[in-house]
Amino acid sequence: MPPLSVILLTSLLALNALARPAAEPSKRHNRHRRDCLSPSSAQEIATNYGLLISNYTDTLANQLLAPNFIDYSESVNTLINSCPQGSAAMPLPLLAPTFSNRSAFETGQAQQPQINFNQLNLWYTCDTVIIRWETTNTANITDVKPVVGLISMETVSAPEGEGLCGRWIDTVYSEFDAGAWLQNLQEAGICSGSGSEPVPDPTVDGGAAAQAAPVAATMTPTVSAARDFA
Ligand SMILES: *[C@@H]1O[C@H](CO)[C@@H](O)[C@H](O)[C@H]1NC(C)=O
Ligand SMILES: *[C@@H]1O[C@H](CO)[C@@H](O)[C@H](O)[C@H]1NC(C)=O
Ligand SMILES: *[C@@H]1O[C@H](CO)[C@@H](O)[C@H](O)[C@H]1NC(C)=O
Repeated sequence: MPPLSVILLTSLLALNALARPAAEPSKRHNRHRRDCLSPSSAQEIATNYGLLISNYTDTLANQLLAPNFIDYSESVNTLINSCPQGSAAMPLPLLAPTFSNRSAFETGQAQQPQINFNQLNLWYTCDTVIIRWETTNTANITDVKPVVGLISMETVSAPEGEGLCGRWIDTVYSEFDAGAWLQNLQEAGICSGSGSEPVPDPTVDGGAAAQAAPVAATMTPTVSAARDFA
């Protein structure tokens, strides 16, 4: 039987070990619960991301997005490749990031017409906000087709005094009905004429790349319009 003091010390050490987190809580997906998104902060982030589409300002982008923000959207890349519009719209491999930092996003998004942005659904996790959304005025035509999409926004803690609700959006995955959007732009007569050359996709070999390029070009008899969009 060990002395009482040894038993007490052993118990305290055991308690201490239990109280300590198993791993460093610094990684995004391992964050302490108190840092998780609340229902209101998830909605605020979603609402303000929508304002970047419907009412863009650099000020809002700087508040909402991390400087190393990255945005993936094959939908947007297809639109850009089918008919680049705006000086910032450069041909991209389909699976490449659309914007690889915040300043690239700002340059591209500031050149886009503002369109309405209606939230249809919202879900969130500890660090990610996911919305389903609709826009109904991608072109100024009478029978405009609605475009519905899904956007996933991963967030990180922002430095003191920056961000929104203490968060920055650092990664966005955004896909939507690029086919309907292209049809709207074509019907509006925007960027009519021939499309751009197929863009090589570095993830496949040269032969397959030509077939992988602008899907939209095969959908319509005359290649229509495109623009970038977050
Ligand atoms: C759009 O942005 C302008 C300038 O920042 C602001 O004055 C206006 O209230 C905003 N409109 C909406 C609907 O948020
Ligand atoms: C942002 O991305 C653009 C496009 O990839 C690149 O040209 C530019 O150098 C980047 N800027 C910074 C600050 O990383
Ligand atoms: C529709 O027309 C208005 C007025 O000219 C313009 O401000 C807006 O950007 C246009 N919308 C689109 C999607 O081109």
